[in-house]
Amino acid sequence: MSETIDDFRTFYQPKAESEKVNLKELILKSIDFIDSAIQKKEIKVIKELENIELKLYGNEFLQVIINLIKNAVDSMSKGGTIIIKLKKRENQIVISIKDNGVGIDKELITKVFDPYFTTKKDSMGLGLYMSKMIIERHLKGTIKIERLKKGTKFSIYLKAIREENYSPFIKNHPNSEK
Ligand SMILES: Nc1ncnc2c1ncn2[C@@H]1O[C@H](COP(=O)(O)OP(=O)(O)O)[C@@H](O)[C@H]1O
Ligand SMILES: [Mg+2]
Repeated sequence: MSETIDDFRTFYQPKAESEKVNLKELILKSIDFIDSAIQKKEIKVIKELENIELKLYGNEFLQVIINLIKNAVDSMSKGGTIIIKLKKRENQIVISIKDNGVGIDKELITKVFDPYFTTKKDSMGLGLYMSKMIIERHLKGTIKIERLKKGTKFSIYLKAIREENYSPFIKNHPNSEK
């Protein structure tokens, strides 16, 4: 597989069926996609993955996870560690991707989710923007970034039980705008 998987190249592919997806398998597949870069940089990937299923658009969410892992790989020169966790607590699914790479300047932290924001040459800067859109709009979840002493951590929070017939027009719906 090519190392330069463009963010969301397959995003607009019409095959977008909501289906029960095993998130552990999806994460393992994402790691596979970037495996050559991981090997080349001698990066250690530590996985703590619970067996969790969720109904979602698998292909779209795969792009989100690939981008987050690729960003972690990009933040390292050689020999770093990436820790990927997937767990469920109460009604929440939490996916976290933590790296000990170069980190992000404090002043730039509010910009990383902006479209076209990038510090890389030859990159689009759309990965995190698209990821945030997908997580918030399609999955009604949240994504959070943290600066660590060394490195960066991204966390995704999803509802373990998603309301299939969610409609923004239902009055007094917990998610509807006031
Ligand atoms: N894990 C990370 N470590 C350090 N910087 C990061 C990390 N993830 C994202 N960033 C910063 O956020 C920017 C935007 O990321 P992204 O939207 O995925 O676009 P791109 O990867 O194309 O630059 C990156 O260029 C980088 O500056
Ligand atoms: Mg990216």
